[in-house]
Amino acid sequence: MNTPTVLVTGATGTIGSALVPALQARGATVRAMTRNPGIAFPGAETVVADLSDPASVTTALTGVDAVFLNSPSAADAAALQIQFTDLARDAGVNRLVLLSQYAARTDSPVRFLRWHAEVEAHVQQLGLDHTVLRPNLYLQALLAFATTIAQGWFAAPIGDAAVSAIDIRDIAESAAAVLTTTGHTGRTYTLTGPRAVTHAEIAVAISAATGRSVVFRDAPADRFSAALAGFPPWQRDGLVEDYAHYARGEAAEVHTAVADLTGHPARDITDFARDYAAALILAGTGKDPR
Ligand SMILES: NC(=O)c1ccc[n+]([C@@H]2O[C@H](COP(=O)([O-])OP(=O)(O)OC[C@H]3O[C@@H](n4cnc5c(N)ncnc54)[C@H](OP(=O)(O)O)[C@@H]3O)[C@@H](O)[C@H]2O)c1
Repeated sequence: MNTPTVLVTGATGTIGSALVPALQARGATVRAMTRNPGIAFPGAETVVADLSDPASVTTALTGVDAVFLNSPSAADAAALQIQFTDLARDAGVNRLVLLSQYAARTDSPVRFLRWHAEVEAHVQQLGLDHTVLRPNLYLQALLAFATTIAQGWFAAPIGDAAVSAIDIRDIAESAAAVLTTTGHTGRTYTLTGPRAVTHAEIAVAISAATGRSVVFRDAPADRFSAALAGFPPWQRDGLVEDYAHYARGEAAEVHTAVADLTGHPARDITDFARDYAAALILAGTGKDPR
């Protein structure tokens, strides 16, 4: 496969910011999409576009070979992503890589998983070469707990359920592999860490990496929800649904896709805790704590 020109949506976001350099390392030409005209991406073209502005998206899509579609959680995320995929097909894009989520299902009790499944179903009938990535809980989502981790604890309604949480660097490197090599058409890759870990085990790893005692406290869902008071209701309730899904032990499977795609083992919680030790004990990010 010749090195493609790839449009990266959400290029300033959690996955996109790691994907841009991962694609460049593979020799791809990158067009990085942001709504902010003041942002520059070293070695990449910047395109200013908004998913809610179809004309700007069409301009962003013009002349690219492949696209990586990712958007933040939003009440209208599924509709915006579906609109984007139609525009990508109309623009003659050769390949679409869609960021979905572990266990996406149209009948899921978790709204985020239903929204992702809706987009997946639309993409499957578009006639566009596509690949779906379904990552599990991001280890970097733990940074949302940094404020209380700095005080020696963090809490979530998950009990002793284990989750095969994944480092976003592995998601980005897996996406870069799919966007620059062949053999992925029509495939769905479930992306996980190398093992399932409980939040108590995560606390042990953070304690070892930071040199501070950090404990995990199980929290009732209503207290967790109250702690998310600053979030809009759809997001707060969606996060509670997400955690109920984790607590039921539904997100513990381990898949080999990261190693298969990247050629290296997926990063473990101990790798994440070591590399993010300083950030974990600084003030919180206020981001989605999934
Ligand atoms: N957190 C988890 O554990 C987890 C696990 C599995 C799947 N997911 C999925 O990951 C996805 C991303 O979530 P995230 O929290 O990591 O978000 P994110 O990618 O960090 O989202 C923020 C990005 O979205 C861009 N953006 C926001 N509104 C936009 C718009 N209207 N048009 C174009 N770009 C826009 C922002 O770019 P600019 O501000 O530069 O424009 C920014 O780069 C979600 O679909 C979520 O369901 C998350």
